[in-house]
Amino acid sequence: MRVLGIETSCDETGVAIYDSEAGLLGDALYSQVAMHAEYGGVVPELASRDHVRKLLPLVKEVLAQADTRPEELDAVAYTAGPGLIGALMVGASTGRAMALGWGIPAIGVHHMEGHLLAPMLEPQPPAFPFVALLVSGGHTQLVQVDAIGEYTLLGESLDDAAGEAFDKAAKMLGLDYPGGPQVARLAELGDRKRFRFPRPMTDRPGLDFSFSGLKTFTLNTSNDLRVDAELCDKDRRDIAAAFEEAVVETLAIKCRRALQQTGFKQLVIAGGVSANQRLRDRLEVMVKKERAQLFYARPQFCTDNGAMIAYAGCQRLLAGQQSDLSIQCVPRWPL
Ligand code: KG4
Ligand code: ZN
Repeated sequence: MRVLGIETSCDETGVAIYDSEAGLLGDALYSQVAMHAEYGGVVPELASRDHVRKLLPLVKEVLAQADTRPEELDAVAYTAGPGLIGALMVGASTGRAMALGWGIPAIGVHHMEGHLLAPMLEPQPPAFPFVALLVSGGHTQLVQVDAIGEYTLLGESLDDAAGEAFDKAAKMLGLDYPGGPQVARLAELGDRKRFRFPRPMTDRPGLDFSFSGLKTFTLNTSNDLRVDAELCDKDRRDIAAAFEEAVVETLAIKCRRALQQTGFKQLVIAGGVSANQRLRDRLEVMVKKERAQLFYARPQFCTDNGAMIAYAGCQRLLAGQQSDLSIQCVPRWPL
């Protein structure tokens, strides 16, 4: 089965073709980050308009890359939510219309299921069942994954998502949007021992998270150090390091607990924050001690992309599912 996947839930236009026999045949991404950076965050209306401009050229590019004619496609998968409603509608209506025109089925995919399954695109994928840590700009969740579509929520953030906390900390340190990768870069040069930020909710049982307190901690620490409203470079680096250390350690503690609770021996991390090298290194150490294995996607498939949607859609279609002709997007949609 050969599936064209479309992702337009936020600020990346992603298109890919996944073939259940041959694997990933084509993949293209256009990031709107530079356009939104000027505003310090994603401007929904600008995002929708840019998806309209970029989507069809990317579809053409991917068809050429995959050496595939539209008649050779078996289905179209598009992100149906969660995300920005206008942005979602661009991918959903375009994807649905192309499928109708080509006379093939279409399926709306859950964006977080896309992230969750992205590590399956790697040469050595995990096997069901496993524990998944979904860490993106909008979600922080621990999920028990028994099979495609069989997901049990084990815990989640009660306030900010980990990626959102990274982005807010970045803003306080004077870094551009999106801040996660930049905080990570600063942190690499920082002294990780100078400040100790809390590890929220790790001193009580359970698998829920809370990251909004770390934001306050970052704000207070930086305000205490400002001279004439400015932070010196060393202070910024050390705060970034303390912040990253606290997020990473907190995630690692909860992931360990989730492995112990389920008895599973595989941990999958997915979503934008799973690209964080410190997190990967810390979790590698943890899983070794637990005699478990860690899985993640290549960096470009950790953040939003079309390949994960093509893959997730393909699995759903192989299981006999498809969406009807109505174009329905779900801006808020639990996994
Ligand atoms: O999965 P994603 O592309 O979009 C959502 O579905 O939200 O995740 C984006 C988030 C942003 O908050 C970004 O700052 C964060 O992932 N992120 C990182 C890194 N790369 C992306 N956070 C920490 N370290 C990174 N290397
Ligand atoms: Zn995402």
